[in-house]
Amino acid sequence: MQSTLRSQEAVQQQPPPLHVAIIMDGNGRWAAARRLPREAGHRAGVVALRKVIEAAPELGVTTLSTYAFSQDNWRRPAEEVSALMALLRGYLATEIDRLADAGVRLRVLGRRDRLPDGIADLIGRAETATAGGTRLDLRIAIDYSGRGAILAAVSTVAAGAATCEDVSRQLEQHGGGPGVDLLIRTSGEQRLSDFLLWEAAYAELYFVETFWPDFDGTALARALDAFRTRERRFGGAGRGAKTAEKQPPRSLVRHIRTLLAWSAR
Ligand code: FPP
Repeated sequence: MQSTLRSQEAVQQQPPPLHVAIIMDGNGRWAAARRLPREAGHRAGVVALRKVIEAAPELGVTTLSTYAFSQDNWRRPAEEVSALMALLRGYLATEIDRLADAGVRLRVLGRRDRLPDGIADLIGRAETATAGGTRLDLRIAIDYSGRGAILAAVSTVAAGAATCEDVSRQLEQHGGGPGVDLLIRTSGEQRLSDFLLWEAAYAELYFVETFWPDFDGTALARALDAFRTRERRFGGAGRGAKTAEKQPPRSLVRHIRTLLAWSAR
Protein backbone atom coordinates (compact mmCIF):
# COMPACT_ATOMS: atom_id res chain seq x y z
CA MET A 1 0.00 0.00 0.00
CA GLN A 2 2.78 2.38 1.11
CA SER A 3 4.86 1.54 -1.96
CA THR A 4 1.84 2.09 -4.28
CA LEU A 5 1.37 5.54 -2.73
CA ARG A 6 5.07 6.24 -3.12
CA SER A 7 5.04 5.24 -6.80
CA GLN A 8 1.94 7.39 -7.38
CA GLU A 9 3.78 10.32 -5.83
CA ALA A 10 6.81 9.63 -8.02
CA VAL A 11 4.59 9.68 -11.13
CA GLN A 12 3.03 12.99 -10.03
CA GLN A 13 6.49 14.49 -9.73
CA GLN A 14 7.30 13.77 -13.39
CA PRO A 15 7.14 16.87 -15.60
CA PRO A 16 4.02 17.39 -17.73
CA PRO A 17 4.13 17.23 -21.53
CA LEU A 18 5.00 20.70 -22.81
CA HIS A 19 3.38 20.25 -26.21
CA VAL A 20 0.00 18.54 -26.31
CA ALA A 21 -1.81 17.91 -29.61
CA ILE A 22 -5.49 16.97 -29.73
CA ILE A 23 -7.59 15.39 -32.46
CA MET A 24 -11.00 16.62 -31.31
CA ASP A 25 -13.13 13.74 -32.55
CA GLY A 26 -16.70 12.64 -31.83
CA ASN A 27 -18.77 15.82 -32.20
CA GLY A 28 -21.12 14.13 -34.67
CA ARG A 29 -21.70 11.06 -32.51
CA TRP A 30 -22.17 13.24 -29.42
CA ALA A 31 -24.93 15.10 -31.30
CA ALA A 32 -26.50 11.93 -32.72
CA ALA A 33 -26.75 10.44 -29.23
CA ARG A 34 -28.88 13.47 -28.31
CA ARG A 35 -30.88 13.49 -31.57
CA LEU A 36 -29.33 16.85 -32.41
CA PRO A 37 -27.93 18.01 -35.75
CA ARG A 38 -24.19 17.53 -36.26
CA GLU A 39 -23.65 21.32 -36.06
CA ALA A 40 -24.84 21.22 -32.45
CA GLY A 41 -22.01 18.77 -31.77
CA HIS A 42 -19.49 21.15 -33.31
CA ARG A 43 -20.89 24.04 -31.26
CA ALA A 44 -20.49 21.95 -28.10
CA GLY A 45 -16.97 21.18 -29.35
CA VAL A 46 -16.10 24.87 -29.22
CA VAL A 47 -17.23 24.99 -25.57
CA ALA A 48 -14.98 22.00 -24.79
CA LEU A 49 -12.09 23.68 -26.58
CA ARG A 50 -12.54 26.76 -24.40
CA LYS A 51 -12.38 24.62 -21.23
CA VAL A 52 -9.23 22.85 -22.38
CA ILE A 53 -7.52 26.13 -23.34
CA GLU A 54 -8.25 27.42 -19.83
CA ALA A 55 -6.94 24.29 -18.12
CA ALA A 56 -3.83 23.66 -20.23
CA PRO A 57 -1.49 26.36 -18.84
CA GLU A 58 -2.63 25.60 -15.27
CA LEU A 59 -1.47 22.03 -15.85
CA GLY A 60 1.94 23.08 -17.17
CA VAL A 61 1.26 22.73 -20.90
CA THR A 62 2.98 25.44 -22.95
CA THR A 63 1.83 24.52 -26.49
CA LEU A 64 -1.58 23.18 -27.43
CA SER A 65 -2.18 22.10 -31.04
CA THR A 66 -5.75 21.25 -32.02
CA TYR A 67 -7.21 19.80 -35.22
CA ALA A 68 -10.36 21.69 -36.20
CA PHE A 69 -10.59 21.02 -39.94
CA SER A 70 -8.48 18.71 -42.09
CA GLN A 71 -7.78 19.06 -45.78
CA ASP A 72 -9.95 15.97 -46.24
CA ASN A 73 -12.89 17.51 -44.33
CA TRP A 74 -13.80 19.44 -47.50
CA ARG A 75 -15.37 16.14 -48.58
CA ARG A 76 -18.12 16.50 -45.95
CA PRO A 77 -21.58 17.67 -47.01
CA ALA A 78 -21.56 21.37 -48.03
CA GLU A 79 -24.01 22.19 -45.24
CA GLU A 80 -21.68 20.82 -42.56
CA VAL A 81 -18.63 22.54 -44.08
CA SER A 82 -20.55 25.85 -44.06
CA ALA A 83 -21.55 25.34 -40.45
CA LEU A 84 -17.95 24.64 -39.45
CA MET A 85 -16.70 27.70 -41.33
CA ALA A 86 -19.39 29.85 -39.71
CA LEU A 87 -18.32 28.56 -36.30
CA LEU A 88 -14.72 29.37 -37.09
CA ARG A 89 -15.66 32.86 -38.25
CA GLY A 90 -17.63 33.44 -35.03
CA TYR A 91 -14.79 32.02 -32.92
CA LEU A 92 -12.23 34.34 -34.48
CA ALA A 93 -14.51 37.35 -34.13
CA THR A 94 -15.60 36.80 -30.54
CA GLU A 95 -12.92 34.82 -28.75
CA ILE A 96 -9.90 36.99 -29.43
CA ASP A 97 -10.22 39.35 -26.46
CA ARG A 98 -10.70 36.39 -24.13
CA LEU A 99 -7.57 34.70 -25.54
CA ALA A 100 -5.50 37.90 -25.39
CA ASP A 101 -6.62 38.58 -21.79
CA ALA A 102 -5.65 35.03 -20.81
CA GLY A 103 -2.16 35.39 -22.32
CA VAL A 104 -2.85 32.92 -25.11
CA ARG A 105 -1.02 33.38 -28.41
CA LEU A 106 -3.01 32.02 -31.34
CA ARG A 107 -1.47 30.66 -34.51
CA VAL A 108 -3.51 29.00 -37.26
CA LEU A 109 -1.89 26.14 -39.18
CA GLY A 110 -2.85 25.07 -42.68
CA ARG A 111 -3.79 26.64 -46.01
CA ARG A 112 -5.64 29.94 -45.99
CA ASP A 113 -6.26 30.40 -49.70
CA ARG A 114 -9.29 28.08 -49.85
CA LEU A 115 -11.16 29.46 -46.84
CA PRO A 116 -14.38 31.46 -47.40
CA ASP A 117 -14.00 35.19 -47.95
CA GLY A 118 -12.80 37.22 -45.01
CA ILE A 119 -11.62 34.32 -42.83
CA ALA A 120 -7.94 34.64 -43.76
CA ASP A 121 -8.10 38.33 -42.75
CA LEU A 122 -9.77 37.45 -39.46
CA ILE A 123 -7.03 34.89 -38.79
CA GLY A 124 -4.33 37.48 -39.48
CA ARG A 125 -6.01 39.96 -37.14
CA ALA A 126 -6.44 37.36 -34.40
CA GLU A 127 -2.80 36.31 -34.65
CA THR A 128 -1.67 39.93 -34.41
CA ALA A 129 -4.00 40.72 -31.50
CA THR A 130 -2.76 37.74 -29.48
CA ALA A 131 0.92 37.91 -30.49
CA GLY A 132 1.99 39.10 -27.03
CA GLY A 133 0.57 36.04 -25.22
CA THR A 134 3.15 34.15 -23.17
CA ARG A 135 1.09 31.68 -21.09
CA LEU A 136 0.06 29.32 -23.88
CA ASP A 137 0.83 28.86 -27.56
CA LEU A 138 -2.47 27.78 -29.07
CA ARG A 139 -2.29 26.34 -32.58
CA ILE A 140 -5.53 25.57 -34.41
CA ALA A 141 -5.17 23.53 -37.61
CA ILE A 142 -7.63 24.44 -40.37
CA ASP A 143 -7.53 23.09 -43.93
CA TYR A 144 -4.45 21.26 -42.67
CA SER A 145 -2.60 18.19 -43.92
CA GLY A 146 0.53 16.80 -42.27
CA ARG A 147 1.69 15.22 -45.53
CA GLY A 148 0.89 18.48 -47.33
CA ALA A 149 3.02 20.45 -44.85
CA ILE A 150 5.98 18.11 -45.41
CA LEU A 151 5.62 18.21 -49.20
CA ALA A 152 5.25 22.00 -49.22
CA ALA A 153 8.43 22.36 -47.16
CA VAL A 154 10.37 19.97 -49.36
CA SER A 155 9.18 21.53 -52.60
CA THR A 156 10.10 25.02 -51.36
CA VAL A 157 13.71 24.04 -50.93
CA ALA A 158 14.04 21.31 -53.57
CA ALA A 159 14.94 23.76 -56.32
CA GLY A 160 17.91 25.16 -54.42
CA ALA A 161 20.86 23.50 -52.72
CA ALA A 162 18.93 22.64 -49.59
CA THR A 163 20.30 21.08 -46.46
CA CYS A 164 18.34 19.00 -43.97
CA GLU A 165 18.34 22.01 -41.65
CA ASP A 166 16.71 24.10 -44.44
CA VAL A 167 13.91 21.54 -44.71
CA SER A 168 13.49 21.47 -40.96
CA ARG A 169 13.25 25.28 -40.90
CA GLN A 170 10.77 25.25 -43.76
CA LEU A 171 8.63 22.74 -41.88
CA GLU A 172 8.47 25.12 -38.97
CA GLN A 173 7.24 27.80 -41.33
CA HIS A 174 4.60 25.40 -42.59
CA GLY A 175 3.28 24.96 -39.08
CA GLY A 176 5.85 22.56 -37.63
CA GLY A 177 7.30 23.97 -34.48
CA PRO A 178 8.12 22.02 -31.38
CA GLY A 179 7.86 18.23 -31.31
CA VAL A 180 4.61 16.92 -29.87
CA ASP A 181 5.06 15.24 -26.48
CA LEU A 182 1.52 13.89 -26.08
CA LEU A 183 -1.07 13.35 -28.81
CA ILE A 184 -4.64 12.82 -27.62
CA ARG A 185 -7.52 11.55 -29.78
CA THR A 186 -11.01 11.44 -28.36
CA SER A 187 -14.01 9.28 -29.29
CA GLY A 188 -12.31 5.87 -29.36
CA GLU A 189 -10.77 6.21 -32.83
CA GLN A 190 -7.08 5.31 -32.99
CA ARG A 191 -5.63 7.07 -36.03
CA LEU A 192 -3.41 10.09 -36.74
CA SER A 193 -5.55 11.23 -39.70
CA ASP A 194 -2.73 13.27 -41.27
CA PHE A 195 -2.22 15.46 -38.19
CA LEU A 196 1.28 16.76 -37.34
CA LEU A 197 2.99 13.74 -38.90
CA TRP A 198 6.43 15.30 -38.65
CA GLU A 199 6.05 16.80 -35.20
CA ALA A 200 4.48 13.67 -33.69
CA ALA A 201 7.45 11.44 -34.60
CA TYR A 202 8.09 10.69 -30.92
CA ALA A 203 4.74 11.68 -29.42
CA GLU A 204 3.18 9.49 -26.78
CA LEU A 205 -0.28 8.51 -28.01
CA TYR A 206 -3.35 8.62 -25.78
CA PHE A 207 -6.72 7.41 -27.02
CA VAL A 208 -9.84 7.93 -24.95
CA GLU A 209 -13.47 6.91 -25.54
CA THR A 210 -14.92 10.28 -24.45
CA PHE A 211 -16.55 12.27 -27.27
CA TRP A 212 -14.85 15.64 -27.71
CA PRO A 213 -17.75 17.79 -26.38
CA ASP A 214 -17.48 15.90 -23.06
CA PHE A 215 -13.73 16.45 -22.77
CA ASP A 216 -12.62 19.09 -20.22
CA GLY A 217 -9.83 20.13 -17.88
CA THR A 218 -10.27 17.05 -15.70
CA ALA A 219 -10.03 14.78 -18.74
CA LEU A 220 -6.91 16.65 -19.84
CA ALA A 221 -5.35 16.21 -16.37
CA ARG A 222 -6.06 12.46 -16.62
CA ALA A 223 -4.30 12.29 -20.00
CA LEU A 224 -1.31 14.15 -18.54
CA ASP A 225 -1.16 11.66 -15.66
CA ALA A 226 -1.05 8.82 -18.19
CA PHE A 227 1.80 10.58 -19.97
CA ARG A 228 3.75 10.80 -16.71
CA THR A 229 3.73 7.01 -16.40
CA ARG A 230 5.37 6.55 -19.82
CA GLU A 231 9.08 6.07 -20.27
CA ARG A 232 10.33 8.00 -23.28
CA ARG A 233 13.48 6.68 -24.88
CA PHE A 234 13.55 8.40 -28.28
CA GLY A 235 15.03 5.28 -29.78
CA GLY A 236 17.72 5.07 -27.11
CA ALA A 237 18.00 2.56 -24.30
CA GLY A 238 18.35 4.83 -21.27
CA ARG A 239 15.73 5.91 -18.77
CA GLY A 240 14.71 9.40 -17.87
CA ALA A 241 14.72 11.44 -21.11
CA LYS A 242 11.60 13.59 -20.90
CA THR A 243 11.64 16.17 -23.67
CA ALA A 244 11.86 15.75 -27.41
CA GLU A 245 15.20 16.25 -29.16
CA LYS A 246 15.77 19.65 -30.70
CA GLN A 247 17.11 18.03 -33.85
CA PRO A 248 14.90 15.75 -35.95
CA PRO A 249 15.67 12.09 -35.26
CA ARG A 250 18.28 10.60 -37.57
CA SER A 251 15.76 8.41 -39.43
CA LEU A 252 13.79 11.53 -40.47
CA VAL A 253 16.97 13.25 -41.65
CA ARG A 254 17.61 10.17 -43.79
CA HIS A 255 14.09 10.42 -45.26
CA ILE A 256 14.63 14.08 -46.12
CA ARG A 257 17.91 13.25 -47.88
CA THR A 258 16.09 10.59 -49.91
CA LEU A 259 13.29 13.02 -50.80
CA LEU A 260 15.78 15.69 -51.85
CA ALA A 261 17.78 13.24 -53.96
CA TRP A 262 14.53 12.02 -55.52
CA SER A 263 13.25 15.53 -56.31
CA ALA A 264 16.60 16.55 -57.83
CA ARG A 265 16.50 13.68 -60.40
C1 FPP B 1 -14.48 15.61 -35.65
O1 FPP B 1 -15.69 15.10 -35.15
C2 FPP B 1 -14.51 17.06 -35.47
C3 FPP B 1 -14.35 17.96 -36.46
C4 FPP B 1 -14.13 17.59 -37.87
C5 FPP B 1 -14.45 19.40 -36.18
C6 FPP B 1 -13.75 19.83 -34.93
C7 FPP B 1 -14.27 21.16 -34.60
C8 FPP B 1 -14.47 21.64 -33.37
C9 FPP B 1 -14.11 20.94 -32.14
C10 FPP B 1 -15.09 22.94 -33.16
C11 FPP B 1 -14.62 23.97 -34.09
C12 FPP B 1 -13.47 24.71 -33.58
C13 FPP B 1 -13.27 25.99 -33.89
C14 FPP B 1 -12.05 26.68 -33.42
C15 FPP B 1 -14.24 26.75 -34.67
P1 FPP B 1 -16.70 14.45 -36.18
O2 FPP B 1 -17.58 15.49 -36.70
O3 FPP B 1 -15.93 13.70 -37.23
O4 FPP B 1 -17.47 13.48 -35.23
P2 FPP B 1 -17.94 12.01 -35.59
O5 FPP B 1 -16.71 11.20 -35.89
O6 FPP B 1 -18.62 11.59 -34.33
O7 FPP B 1 -18.89 12.11 -36.75
